[in-house]
Amino acid sequence: MKPDRKILQRIEQLRNELRRHDYLYYMEAKPEISDSQYDGMMRELQSFEIEFPELVTPDSPTQRVGGEPTKEFPTVQHIIPMLSLANAYTEEELLDFDKRVRNLLGDERYQYACELKFDGVSLSLHYESGILVRGVTRGDGTQGDDITNNVKTIRSIPLRLEMSASGAIPLSGTSNKQLLNCEVRGEVMMFKKDFDEMNEARMKAGEEKFINPRNTTAGTLKLQDSKIVAQRKLRFYAYYLRSNTGSFKSHFENMQMLRKVGFPVCEYAILCDGIDGVVEYWKKMESLRDTLSYEIDGVVVKVDSLAQQERLGAIAKSPRWAIASKFASRKGETQLRGITLQVGRIGTVTPVAELEPVFVGGSTVSRASLYNEDYIQELDIRVGDTVIVEKGGDVIPKVSGVVLEKRPKNSKRFVFPKKCPECKSPLVRLEEEANYYCENYECPMQIRGRIQHWAMRGAMDIEGLGEAVVDQLVDHGFVHNIADLYDLHSHKEKLIELERWGEKSVQNLLDGVEQSKQKPFHRVLYSIGIRHVGAGVAQVLTEHFNTIDEIAKANEDDLQSIYEIGPRIAESIVKFFSDKHHREIIERLKYSGLKLETENKKQTGPFFKLTFVLTGTLANYTRDQAKEIIEQHGGKVASSVSKNVSIVIVGEEAGSKLDKAKKLGIEIWDEERFKNETKK
Ligand code: IVH
Repeated sequence: MKPDRKILQRIEQLRNELRRHDYLYYMEAKPEISDSQYDGMMRELQSFEIEFPELVTPDSPTQRVGGEPTKEFPTVQHIIPMLSLANAYTEEELLDFDKRVRNLLGDERYQYACELKFDGVSLSLHYESGILVRGVTRGDGTQGDDITNNVKTIRSIPLRLEMSASGAIPLSGTSNKQLLNCEVRGEVMMFKKDFDEMNEARMKAGEEKFINPRNTTAGTLKLQDSKIVAQRKLRFYAYYLRSNTGSFKSHFENMQMLRKVGFPVCEYAILCDGIDGVVEYWKKMESLRDTLSYEIDGVVVKVDSLAQQERLGAIAKSPRWAIASKFASRKGETQLRGITLQVGRIGTVTPVAELEPVFVGGSTVSRASLYNEDYIQELDIRVGDTVIVEKGGDVIPKVSGVVLEKRPKNSKRFVFPKKCPECKSPLVRLEEEANYYCENYECPMQIRGRIQHWAMRGAMDIEGLGEAVVDQLVDHGFVHNIADLYDLHSHKEKLIELERWGEKSVQNLLDGVEQSKQKPFHRVLYSIGIRHVGAGVAQVLTEHFNTIDEIAKANEDDLQSIYEIGPRIAESIVKFFSDKHHREIIERLKYSGLKLETENKKQTGPFFKLTFVLTGTLANYTRDQAKEIIEQHGGKVASSVSKNVSIVIVGEEAGSKLDKAKKLGIEIWDEERFKNETKK
């Protein structure tokens, strides 16, 4: 059967839409549709192409989903070798590079194009008549592997160049024609967030975690099954263009051109007139390093003019016109002296690596987190091992690996202790949790942790009550729990006698404690330190309940009917308030005058005392807008239908919530009714 005009139009429409969404996602970072909507369109297009295989084109978005496994990757010769870059580690080495360039170019003016040095895997792409025909790895620099099938799955790599990447608008003018036959080189990477999400999913599925984004990218590109590659969220950033079909003068302009035809290029690229600007750029980018979505390990500095690049040429394996100016290493090797346990304020036990001090990424590291038992077992980290210490984006150092060749002969697997190091009570590991807990509420480490949390900035923010002071007060038996802080004034004389204390500092501390009584209810609730109740959840709770007693009385269903609260939080809140200790402390806080109820609760509005549930899609409001309107009118919004719900607002394609509401005889409004009621 031949496809009719309508089908041809639909195929074209789907292809353009899919291209547009790739563009929005990878170039603009502004996706308009969900992954499942994207997959739906892709499936529709695939089904047409299965029915009419003669319509499949090499640049159809379906080519991105991967095909039959490849047995062996053919070897391909690079037309011009893929060189590497010489490195500069210090400012001096960067200045030396500039001196060499100046000497070689004589009196000529020159500019530097500076960009980020992406920490990924390099790749060469070949386009013929604007169509991607080949993707080749660097290999040994002169020849690499043809991994075209894998490369096509990378959605930020355009499959053809003569269209703008947004899909519908053909590029005007000559720029597109100039690029019909060209080679584009760049780096394949994985965003940190995509890497973390993938590892999380792997952990849940019981699969081994990957070590870092770079290794994972390298491993993924070599996979023989391109369908798996398609699932791995690889990205590409272009940093080099070669074409015989145009007049190209500068690297910087080349990059702008590549961006126009749909390649992601370095967003932080700049042109500098002299080396001073380059040094400044290098320092600035090092300070931004941890804020980026991907890993970089330095900046690349290139003489911008292509004519000058040619004159400067190359020596051995690297060009004379470019240098990689590296950042200080954030990895180091050192010996693991021991593993100790730290107990947090809610009893979470964290293993900590005690290290032979090592200088990493600008500071000396002697302790690093080992997260939990599983982490230690997966990496098989043993006391006495030489380990790799890494400073991640979050700046908290971690042990990321073991140098097995340096392992001492008689080393033993680490066995997680069964008792709390501080109070000796048994440690408990709950099902489905990676952590051990010390369940002794009176454990001194937990006591200190809870009081530190109460006093810290963002919580009750008590001036003069830092970590060291808390330790001192707990160790001398002045405070045992947060409520004791409000009796401290009765120990004033004894406090003054403490080491490093005087009348003035004690008074400051007592004033700070007194002032904390003015903190609003939601702050107090957060500071109490209920597991899973962060500042945001505390705020939500105080919007739904007027007093702490109401929260304490709520059961899991009541709590879960609140939009933002899921089963994990609800369970934790109920558990907290079922503990006698906790209730006693709250009574004492109340007695001391802390704010444990809301001050100006919205007690008015047409929806006062009404609880709503939203279901289906509303035509004129997003869910958040509808929720806000309800709350402005004094009502509350719950996430699930129960007998506590007063009204269910129903939009298009409402599902089981509507059925349940009907069954329970709950009042049902359509969008029109909702609009009218809020106009009143
Ligand atoms: S230009 C002849 N620009 O660094 C120069 N390379 O050590 C070709 N790299 O193999 C490279 N970011 O994989 C260039 N902005 C950038 C880069 C970059 C990362 C990698 C590339 C290359 C290695 C050289």
